Amino acid sequence: MKPVNVFVKLGGSFITDKTVADSLDGARIAAAARALRQAIDASARRGRPIQLALGHGAGSYGHILAKEYSAVDGVHPRRGWQGLYRIRESMTRMNLLFLAACARGGLFPVTVSPFATAQARDGKVNGLHTRSIEALLAAGQTPVIHGDVILDFKRGFTIASTEALLEALCRRVRFDRIVMVSDTDGVFGHDGKTIPTISRANINDLFGAIQGSHAPDVTGGMRKKVEKLFALLRNGRAGTARILRCAKDGRNLRDAVLGTGGGGTLLKA
Ligand SMILES: Nc1ncnc2c1ncn2[C@@H]1O[C@H](COP(=O)(O)OP(=O)(O)OP(=O)(O)O)[C@@H](O)[C@H]1O
Ligand SMILES: [Mg+2]
Repeated sequence: MKPVNVFVKLGGSFITDKTVADSLDGARIAAAARALRQAIDASARRGRPIQLALGHGAGSYGHILAKEYSAVDGVHPRRGWQGLYRIRESMTRMNLLFLAACARGGLFPVTVSPFATAQARDGKVNGLHTRSIEALLAAGQTPVIHGDVILDFKRGFTIASTEALLEALCRRVRFDRIVMVSDTDGVFGHDGKTIPTISRANINDLFGAIQGSHAPDVTGGMRKKVEKLFALLRNGRAGTARILRCAKDGRNLRDAVLGTGGGGTLLKA
């Protein structure tokens, strides 16, 4: 049977405290990894292999430094290229801790460094070398990307969110399901409650309620996430997308990956 392509992002809001520098929550990552392992194994038993690509946000590693160095704008008028060094160092450190926590949950993803594979022009990702990601997926392995600082042909460097990199990846790989794990149980509407479904019918009314992040975040928070996901759904590069908060027992994340539920907010074109 044809494999199911699934992309899961463990958001920086879920795996760090975005207001406290370098605060990774390894237990949350391990629990989520265990849920992903269960989903992969359950689907394989049913003869429907899952090809999982993973992403993780920059949380309190990348975002705090990116803000301090105005790194979205690239080379700093006073500090030059220092931001590139600081953010790369920080994201590499975070990524290694992330991998170790995944391993505790029985998942062994392999990082495909966004810095080495993506470039931008004037703040927009305009190239992503996807062949390593595609080869890992085809081999039944789990590639992982993350929000990162990348070279920019105009600004020197800039920040690429996991969502912007996903958008570039989706030009080559179509995902049947995208799952974004957040610190919020999905997307909240005007009344502060989780919106079960976002579609063409209600998205415009909802935009007033969807903002950036309440925490330091240089890539547009929930608003940009929803905009980018909806664009991918509309142009057919993804089947469905779900935003949720992973429960302690990980069951909702497992169900979302299997496509059998999961709660939070479901987005469809
Ligand atoms: N309507 C809304 N529903 C839910 N969250 C919202 C809403 N509007 C704004 N937000 C904010 O968006 C945040 C999630 O976006 P954010 O970019 O901070 O998380 P993330 O993508 O998981 O982190 P990272 O960018 O580090 O990966 C929430 O924590 C909340 O503060
Ligand atoms: Mg974000």
